[in-house]
Amino acid sequence: MTKLIHSDAKAPEGFRSLATPVYRGSTVLFPRAEAATDEWNQHEIGYTYGLYGTPTTLELGARICELEKGFRTIITPGGQAAISLIHLALLQAGDHVLLPESIYGPNRVFSNRLLRRFGVEVGYYPPEAGGDISSLFKNNTKLLWCESPGSITMEVQDVPAIAEAAHRHGALLVMDNTWAAGIYFDAFAHGVDVTMQALTKYVGGHSDLLLGSVTVRDAKIYERLGETQYVAGYAASPDDCSLALRGMKTMAVRLKAVERSALELARWLSARPEVEVVLHPALPSCPGHEIWKRDFTGSTGLFSVIFQRQYNREQVLKFVNALELFKIGYSWGGVTSLAMTYELHSAKRPRYEHRLVRLYTGLESIDDLKADVEQALAQLK
Ligand SMILES: Cc1ncc(COP(=O)(O)O)c(C=O)c1O
Repeated sequence: MTKLIHSDAKAPEGFRSLATPVYRGSTVLFPRAEAATDEWNQHEIGYTYGLYGTPTTLELGARICELEKGFRTIITPGGQAAISLIHLALLQAGDHVLLPESIYGPNRVFSNRLLRRFGVEVGYYPPEAGGDISSLFKNNTKLLWCESPGSITMEVQDVPAIAEAAHRHGALLVMDNTWAAGIYFDAFAHGVDVTMQALTKYVGGHSDLLLGSVTVRDAKIYERLGETQYVAGYAASPDDCSLALRGMKTMAVRLKAVERSALELARWLSARPEVEVVLHPALPSCPGHEIWKRDFTGSTGLFSVIFQRQYNREQVLKFVNALELFKIGYSWGGVTSLAMTYELHSAKRPRYEHRLVRLYTGLESIDDLKADVEQALAQLK
């Protein structure tokens, strides 16, 4: 029976594949007792424990880092885990953190519920504020978030101006760079200190995994994040990382295709009488469009549509329910087109109320997508 565990059987060596092998493993073997250590920084001291990444995980991190041109990338079990890791690593009781009103919803919930419970002060700023946020800084402001374009309402932010204000006040600037897939916005060149992405979206690309990334500008910030990942125990699955590595190989062509479709659909929708405004960063009707033109090198598949005021909540829901190719779902970035309604009633957000529908264009034919939207619009009459 011992042979089942300590086998002498060997497969031939020398297999060279184009795919990164999936290295699974919790236990890491050490050659000698003296060499055993539980240090997390495997880049410095070699492999110690699967929790800190196997070669598959670390290769995905290295590739994301290469794309984002950072110092190093940590892979997390999801985009939300990347968000919480950043907060937990860079804040402590008594600190103040500022987020844009347009931040991804669960980031707001994490900040309001968990950070406040641990004694962190949480504040919000208008996403279009740019450098004017200086008045919101306090002596204890340590961290500032930006997300450009913002979730759902799509405001493009003046990141260089925000970075300049953050650094003048001794705070770090973090960016949720998921919309631009870490490609169409060079965050570090625009003054950002830490970026995160939900790799769940474009990198995975097929709606079948959950992963996140945190990329940092320098070694000092990396130490703080790595130490926190170690004690928080955020391990990512090597199988999911392998899928993400595969997804990366086709990401450029997928992004180009969803960019083309989204632009065509957004422009077509802009001319429809049912639509008040289309919030797509590459269209002049989107808040911050001029900044998008200045700072971004492309656009992706996600944008929002605001229906005219005459349409009530039931009609907007009817439109979404009438869509056939566009499925109703939250997590975009895959091959399937999606639609989702949102209610925006807060005085601090644009008053779109029930009239906002967020669309994601996948890889279906654009003619079929337009026809689908057209037949759903026809049902509004
Ligand atoms: C902008 C943005 N950031 C972060 C996340 C969180 O990613 P995940 O779903 O992988 O936790 C999402 C997911 O919807 C997102 O849209």
